[in-house]
Amino acid sequence: MKSNLVAVIVLMFFLGGILTISSCKKDEQAAGTDKELYEMAKATSGFTWFKHSSSLLNTSSGSGHPQAFLRTRYNAVAATMLDSSGKIMTGATFPEGSLIVKELFDNATTLGRYAMLYKNPGSSDADAKGWVWGYINADGSVAEPASNKGSACISCHSQAGNIDYMLMNKYFP
Ligand code: HEC
Repeated sequence: MKSNLVAVIVLMFFLGGILTISSCKKDEQAAGTDKELYEMAKATSGFTWFKHSSSLLNTSSGSGHPQAFLRTRYNAVAATMLDSSGKIMTGATFPEGSLIVKELFDNATTLGRYAMLYKNPGSSDADAKGWVWGYINADGSVAEPASNKGSACISCHSQAGNIDYMLMNKYFP
């Protein structure tokens, strides 16, 4: 009887610990704009792949993204700016509602992070060109909050040869 009581008390401490840990973890999870971007990135239907290929590419030499491999897709609105070979048209300006998702892979099979550009000028997280910058790990934790408005991204994505901030054409001609 007494040992039963001890077991119950131990169990309660254990459960309490798990609850505390999981509620802390929740704080790092995507919320607000980040959560919206994360949900949009996970829904893969209706996208077109860069150069019509879902094969993984090696991250380029100019990449600011630490993962080894990547592949990039465009939602139906963004895909209107792709030419017949699946590359971005020269001089393109993406229309409102465009979503570009770069899937970053840690290795050949493990998706590590989503890097996203979402043209949504009405968002309070949009930059001067109307882009919202998302950087969210595959598990839903936030690598760089959208509220930073691309401050960690824009200088590199403004380099010569970008098209409306896009660098895929330049590094994967
Ligand atoms: C030091 C340069 C650099 C920085 C900083 C950088 N990027 Fe990139 N990014 C690249 C390059 C180069 C590519 C082309 C693909 C590759 O090699 O990774 C790219 C590709 C992308 C793409 C695919 C669309 C395209 O054509 O460019 C997205 C989306 C993206 N980056 C988002 C971000 C976000 C979000 C941040 C900031 C949190 C960021 N990038 C910071 C260099 C950078």
